[in-house]
Amino acid sequence: MASTVAWRGEFSKAEANALHAEAFGTRLFDAAEWNWEQLVRDHGLGWVTGRDDADGTLVGFVNVVWDGLTHAWLQDVMIAQTHRHQGLGRRLVEAATDAARATGCEWLHVDFEDELRPFYFGACGFRPTDAGLLRL
Ligand SMILES: CC(C)(COP(=O)(O)OP(=O)(O)OC[C@H]1O[C@@H](n2cnc3c(N)ncnc32)[C@H](O)[C@@H]1OP(=O)(O)O)[C@@H](O)C(=O)NCCC(=O)NCCS
Repeated sequence: MASTVAWRGEFSKAEANALHAEAFGTRLFDAAEWNWEQLVRDHGLGWVTGRDDADGTLVGFVNVVWDGLTHAWLQDVMIAQTHRHQGLGRRLVEAATDAARATGCEWLHVDFEDELRPFYFGACGFRPTDAGLLRL
């Protein structure tokens, strides 16, 4: 399935919430609970969309947050189940990487569960590092 990847591509709150629920297996949040458009426009470095060329459906998304200068982080990399293992996740991460670099960032961070090591280390070129996490 051909898909188009776009840095800061258009999307709606409903589309992002639907994709998040499907990709992560969570309940469907509504726009009042989770306003993705405002979140990424007001607080992030940017985002990447992936859309199916045939019907325009939002099938990929990643939020790129940052410190305002040199560090950026990938958050909520998500691909629709119907479009996985076609290289779309790798393309989204590549687009986020290119945009962060073009903005002047020097480091791109991501954290993930062990099972995704082949994706982030193998397909996307990240290297292992120590990181910390606190359950809140
Ligand atoms: C993880 C995710 C973004 C990968 O997207 P994708 O478009 O399927 O990834 P790609 O097709 O670019 O994968 C490239 C390679 O990475 C590796 N890879 C991808 N998904 C993987 C997975 N779930 N487990 C292990 N390796 C994986 C494989 O080597 C894959 O090559 P292959 O398809 O020939 O086996 C997608 O499965 C997803 O949205 N998962 C649910 C949400 C999630 O967990 N996001 C990550 C949060 S940190």
